[in-house]
Amino acid sequence: MQLKSLKIDYKVYSVLPKSFEPLLKKAYEMTQTSYSPYSHFSVGAAVLLSDGTIVGGSNQENMSYPSGLCAERVAVFSAQANFPHLSVKSIFLMAVQGGEVVDQIVSPCGACRQVLIEVEQRYGSDIEVILYSPSQTIVFSSVKDLLPFMFSF
Ligand code: THU
Repeated sequence: MQLKSLKIDYKVYSVLPKSFEPLLKKAYEMTQTSYSPYSHFSVGAAVLLSDGTIVGGSNQENMSYPSGLCAERVAVFSAQANFPHLSVKSIFLMAVQGGEVVDQIVSPCGACRQVLIEVEQRYGSDIEVILYSPSQTIVFSSVKDLLPFMFSF
């Protein structure tokens, strides 16, 4: 038996770097388009593409709960449907609840991680994952850091 371990590096900012401001603006706008009458939790995602285009997404719920979709997948699927020739450089996430920006990072669920990692592989280009809250922003340089031992065949 061998005992192995993984080390994950990530950056923590107490002040959002200026370069992320356009993504913050888009992700906030997207929280306002969330359809979340069941959870009352509005998630906004902004995806930065290789030519600088920013594509947004928000969580879209349904009364048949599993039929809804997370903000990350709405954003990234929309990007791939509309700009299939452009790679995804970054994804920025935040949430609003009760009209206030949630002061806690929103980290992608497992299903979104699996989707995002396949987008990374499809374009052979790491996707930076930016998890925003007003008091801190956490940045991972690749989805691989969020999903070791991803499913693949
Ligand atoms: N949600 C997202 O949009 N992204 C995530 O990574 C986790 C959860 C949504 C799904 C649902 O509409 C609401 O947040 C509460 O779970």
